Amino acid sequence: MCGIIGYIGYRDAGEVITHGLKRMEYRGYDSWGIAVNNDDGLNVYKRVGAIGEIETVDIGNSTLGIGHTRWATHGEPSEINAHPHLDCTRKLAVVHNGIIENFLSLRENLSAEGHKFVSETDTEVVAHLLEKNLNTSLENALIRSLPAMKGSYAIVVTNAGKRELVGCRYRSPLLLGIGDDEYFLASDVTAILEYTNRIVYLEDHDVVTITDEGYTITNSGTSVERAIERIPWSLEDAQRGGYEHFMLKEIHEIPKIIEETLLEYVTDTINLDISLAAGTSEIIFFACGTSYHAALIGKYIIEEVSRIPVRVEYASESNYHRTPLTRSLVIGITQSGETADTLNAMRRAKSFGAKVLAITNVLGSSATRIADHVIYTRAGPEIGVAATKTFIAQLIILYLIASKLAMPPIDETEKFLTEFRMLPEKIRQILDNTQAITNIAKILAGHNSMIYIGRNRGYPIALEGALKMKEISYIHAEGYPAGELKHGPFALLGAKTPVVASVINDHTHEIMLNNIREVKTRGSLIVAITDERDEEVERYVDFTIKTPATSAIFAPITQAVTLQLLAYYTAKRIGCEIDKPKNLAKSVTVE
Ligand code: AGP
Repeated sequence: MCGIIGYIGYRDAGEVITHGLKRMEYRGYDSWGIAVNNDDGLNVYKRVGAIGEIETVDIGNSTLGIGHTRWATHGEPSEINAHPHLDCTRKLAVVHNGIIENFLSLRENLSAEGHKFVSETDTEVVAHLLEKNLNTSLENALIRSLPAMKGSYAIVVTNAGKRELVGCRYRSPLLLGIGDDEYFLASDVTAILEYTNRIVYLEDHDVVTITDEGYTITNSGTSVERAIERIPWSLEDAQRGGYEHFMLKEIHEIPKIIEETLLEYVTDTINLDISLAAGTSEIIFFACGTSYHAALIGKYIIEEVSRIPVRVEYASESNYHRTPLTRSLVIGITQSGETADTLNAMRRAKSFGAKVLAITNVLGSSATRIADHVIYTRAGPEIGVAATKTFIAQLIILYLIASKLAMPPIDETEKFLTEFRMLPEKIRQILDNTQAITNIAKILAGHNSMIYIGRNRGYPIALEGALKMKEISYIHAEGYPAGELKHGPFALLGAKTPVVASVINDHTHEIMLNNIREVKTRGSLIVAITDERDEEVERYVDFTIKTPATSAIFAPITQAVTLQLLAYYTAKRIGCEIDKPKNLAKSVTVE
């Protein structure tokens, strides 16, 4: 959602914070702000819009400051609503990620006590609460203020003229970066990778106080030690590296990611710990967005090879469904590990006694704190808002889980591993031959609406293809099971509504061709994504994008990469802001 950063050390704080905010822009980019703290007090700088190419801001010499990049929840994007927020004395500056749910009543009470509010945000109450509670130290003021706040928060505060930063977290991410004679607080490790990879992941209720001499952490009043971890990501991973967009770079990283995942989890057998699944009566996936689509594919694959029933639920709907049972294995899939709905669904499942596994890309993320066991995807940092490489990394893990769960007489291990080893090369072929994709993208770019269809494992691919298209090109796109079109969406077919069909070379092939013929007679332009060996489909469609031959079970992977590229080139043709689509944020940390 929003991204926050704090710095204390010897470098120019304005520059460190601007760099950090730029790297966290994917968390929110409708406005941003910085406050630096020096002997003269606080200097505050706020702007509406994205940081863009700005390298540093003219905000006065200082080696201590805080910053924030915003994804508006309370109040429109404006300089007044941008963080940092100040108290009445203009001595305390606060940045916050999360939501103070009871801010209205807090605001009323504080206003009645004489505090003057200038913004519409929930965060401003934090500054005034701190002002009210400041008597001994800033740390103490924060500790006294926290019980009044309901909701989720990562907060960083500074006090004019004092060389001190104080931060705290509850259900929103905050980490401490440790350099040589310098310290950082940030929502995300990518913000500070340029300076350090030594990280302390703060826990819920931790309060950290940092001065030039070092840091201390307390939790509910007790002093605590937290381990320092070294993050294996490099700055290069978080940079565009010559690509026009992060999204394109990240799609191009997919072959390498598959290779690295196999190196990590496969020798001559699959070394993935899924002991939590022992004796399980059902598997329930909770996820949102693209991760939800990965879970749907996981369902098809796991049910095909094991006898375990699998449910897939939108995490945001999990409260309203049958509760997980003690013998259920709940799997939360979340690339960021910070999606509020997925975290809530995992917590709730745990409270019912279910075992909880997390599949995530982010070390130390909140999902890893909740889960009984974690399986990491090895995708490296993903900066583009549209999930691409992390989706494929999730699929690889799900295929590995499926093959571990396979029940005799089915033993797919050998077949899976052979296919896996060939996949990177096949994806490189797709990346090297994008002519058909770019040609079709030109045509699709001229439409306002489109439909994606698929059957069986092709259905979640249709959903994901449509999600990618709509989020970055702003073209209305919906995915449907191919068989469902007749039950309503047929009314939309015609020259203005192209249809993208995911065709898989298995028992669904023939019926998909029937569905395609039905669509054709209603006048829609049809693009089929299919295996290079499929010659039949070309007779019925306007355009075909061929993917390298794979066994049908792996077709979702090659097709997903193809549809990611199709969305990318369509959005590029239209001239969209691909890495930072309007109204979206990479990590959705509110319900
Ligand atoms: C995907 O392109 C999206 N931007 C979005 O749907 C995302 O997958 C969703 O918000 C879930 O995120 P997570 O994997 O970090 O939990």
